Amino acid sequence: MTASQTQPATPWQLALRAARTNPSVIREILKVTERPGIISLAGGLPSPDSFPVEAMREATARVLRDNPSEALQYAASEGFAPLREWVAAQMAEQGLQVDPTQVLITTGSQQGLDLVGKVLVDPGSTVAVEAPTYLGALQAFAPYEPGIVTVDCDDDGPLPAGLSAAAGARFLYVLPNFQNPSGRCIGETRRAALVDAARAVRLPLVEDNPYGDLWFDAAPPPPLAARWAEGTVYLGSFSKVLAPGLRLGYVIAPKALCPKLLQAKQAADLHTPGFNQRVVHEVIRDGFLRSHVPTIRARYKAQRDAMRAALETHLPAGCRWTVPSGGMFFWLELPDDVDAVALLPSAVELGMAYVPGAAFFASDPKPNTLRLSFVTVAPAQIERGVMLLAQALAASRSRG
Ligand SMILES: Cc1ncc(COP(=O)(O)O)c(C=O)c1O
Repeated sequence: MTASQTQPATPWQLALRAARTNPSVIREILKVTERPGIISLAGGLPSPDSFPVEAMREATARVLRDNPSEALQYAASEGFAPLREWVAAQMAEQGLQVDPTQVLITTGSQQGLDLVGKVLVDPGSTVAVEAPTYLGALQAFAPYEPGIVTVDCDDDGPLPAGLSAAAGARFLYVLPNFQNPSGRCIGETRRAALVDAARAVRLPLVEDNPYGDLWFDAAPPPPLAARWAEGTVYLGSFSKVLAPGLRLGYVIAPKALCPKLLQAKQAADLHTPGFNQRVVHEVIRDGFLRSHVPTIRARYKAQRDAMRAALETHLPAGCRWTVPSGGMFFWLELPDDVDAVALLPSAVELGMAYVPGAAFFASDPKPNTLRLSFVTVAPAQIERGVMLLAQALAASRSRG
């Protein structure tokens, strides 16, 4: 037998953690939805019409004119100091007093999730999550090999009584505002009870808030971090209020954790692009978001209303949803006997796509659930997409 017959074709051996990771279901679906003609209500992409192109163009020109050398040079791992100060001032308006040194600028809040996993999770330790939860967080934590425990939830978020089951976990990962995927927003009373319960069992919180500014009628209650600053790591993002292509987010951590998060950040990418940080700071420093964000809210509210009307018109009895008061998503429960994964190919065949809800559960997936985004396509297409979903549903039911 020759050596070439006995040896594997590749000299590479995957690390166990790489061998264990799977492609994101959402990314795989998005590939299908890139086919021309598909109305995709699947991706969580902000509307490109909301991108502040002119403001970015002008700010970019100013940064390159006034500070070209600094903007194009390596920069501090913590982030651009004026941007960190801006974030700290914003948080103070929401009731969370933090020192700018507690703000770490990250390459999207997705990197914040990775850093939190790297610093706080050991193999075999436990992380608690909501049901459903953000799939990208499950992916970010997975390489650090935690066991995942799911906390019982209702339409108002995690049940405080359920937290005792998560005692001993490294943290509870929670999305209080217009959650991805369920759209739910935790009310004031539940927030208070949740934080009390978390403190009682000494369960720290990782609060992820990319959607909080996208409210339609009233701002959500103050962040959980404002109630328990030393027990909460807070993640924020510029993706949904400016543009996701900037890859700009931030982590606000209790002082004790900051050095470790910073070291993890240094090892990951030295720093978040300083050029992007300076341009964004240049855009927002004089209050740009105070006029810009309301235009996004108005656009998304109209699109939410278009989807609500389409759902009411086209979906049959037995389907359930709650109307989100902000954010980007409707969460649908189809009749109990419908499997949204099995239904997807026929929906795509008819010309629309969604994300099956099962992907968002760490355990005990609900097969009859799915997520629809109302922000990426225009209202006329929203209506048609929902109609096609109803057709796919009707066809599957008639097939029995
Ligand atoms: C809940 C949640 N967290 C974090 C992210 C990552 O956002 P970004 O890395 O663009 O800031 C997303 C993106 O959609 C999200 O929905």
